[in-house]
Amino acid sequence: MFLFLPDFKLRISNLLSLEICRFVFVSVFILSVFATCDDADNKFHNDGPWITGSENPGQKICISWITKNKTGTKRDYGVEPVNLENKVYFEPLQNFHHACLDSLIPDTVYYYSIPQELSFASAEHLDSFKTPKINQESFSFVIMGDMQPEDYSGSQRVETMSAAVALEEPEFVVQLGDFTQRGTVPDFWHYVFYGSASLFSTYPLYGIIGNHDQDYDQGKTWRKTFPFPFEKPESSYYFVDYNNLRMIFLDCYEQSRKIEKEQLIWLEDLLFTASADSFVFVFLHGSIYSSGMENMDHDLQVKLTPLFDKYGVDAVFYGHDHMYEHYQMTYGDNGYLFAPDHNWPHNRVHYFLSGGGGAQLESSYGILNRFYYVYKRELYNLNTETTEELLFEVRDWNEFKFVDWSPSSSTPASQNYYHLASEESYQDESEFFGQEYGENTLHYIKVEINSEEAFVTVHYPDGTLLRGPQKSNPQEWILLKK
Ligand SMILES: [Fe+2]
Repeated sequence: MFLFLPDFKLRISNLLSLEICRFVFVSVFILSVFATCDDADNKFHNDGPWITGSENPGQKICISWITKNKTGTKRDYGVEPVNLENKVYFEPLQNFHHACLDSLIPDTVYYYSIPQELSFASAEHLDSFKTPKINQESFSFVIMGDMQPEDYSGSQRVETMSAAVALEEPEFVVQLGDFTQRGTVPDFWHYVFYGSASLFSTYPLYGIIGNHDQDYDQGKTWRKTFPFPFEKPESSYYFVDYNNLRMIFLDCYEQSRKIEKEQLIWLEDLLFTASADSFVFVFLHGSIYSSGMENMDHDLQVKLTPLFDKYGVDAVFYGHDHMYEHYQMTYGDNGYLFAPDHNWPHNRVHYFLSGGGGAQLESSYGILNRFYYVYKRELYNLNTETTEELLFEVRDWNEFKFVDWSPSSSTPASQNYYHLASEESYQDESEFFGQEYGENTLHYIKVEINSEEAFVTVHYPDGTLLRGPQKSNPQEWILLKK
């Protein structure tokens, strides 16, 4: 059965309508300009501090914060809490502040002062972070997905997740995008840091730009908020070599709102030059494989899957859909390719959808009662060596299938709806591309890496392992070097 979705685009059929549209457009534009100026000048909150990781993890870290009023950037820091002998000071008055500390000593605890405006963050006006060891044998970090709080109740979910992640004492945290609900609105940033400052004031952050961070101002506020080591000042993608892990942070929302050719060339070069002794993880926001409401991103699949396969990427982590899903896929194993130009040995790649960092879950967006629909794709059949048109069905999730033992903190309703492909298929394409398990729940992913293996585990906010119905599907994997 086919369902054709209605076309909601307005059709303007005469000159009068065009004039009305032009008037409305100009009015909205003028109002937007005033609103933007208003946001920029008057509505900031005192938020932070948060610290961001750098391209030189053992020796450089940036401390950032926002002030309601424009002030100078001052920060004292040192290894003795009673003697903060090092000082950072910039004269220009501004709302966004970044004190980037260089020449730090690896494996050392540093204390830093918190400005008076942020006194709520610490009664002692002091916080601390620890620089990582260089060339250490093992380390761990946490990955958390979409947060985007819309109000203080959203902040509370972010706070729950932040507290859970902090208990893991990670060396750093990777956030998979959609940090904020709307990147240009200071109130929405305030809701984020209100819930997460206790985590990010201590554990360095590496982040991805999401569509909510990028839309409205092409990500300018997001880039202004986080001084990540971007490839270029105007870009939002970068990479970091952290011990034996190459981390590649992509931007799915460039000028065309897609990944463009220059970034793909940059990506392939990083995959090609990665050391054979390193693991390679790729982080992005767009849901490359997902049975959630945003669903499959075919453009990302076609552009990225062949590269991940060719260079044997170990794992791919992404968000966008607000739930959890795991895929294991060897490109071409299902008998089909996106295009007939592959002649290399294929690699098994783990894909983790992790959009449960505090945002409203997929059940709020309709995953339990979405329309049935069918779509078609053209794929290359390896056996017949021809391009075929395949039909894929999408069905709603079964509301009677939930994990009845899951902790109450994992969903507002304490009901974690799950998708176990071996029991019931909700979407042809997810099975086709190796979906194994999915769950509508808040969660985070922990990664522990040593010289031989990467141990990946998925956790509810109370720290317990996400294990599915009857605890029969523990979400834990050991990834060995390829
Ligand atoms: Fe998103």
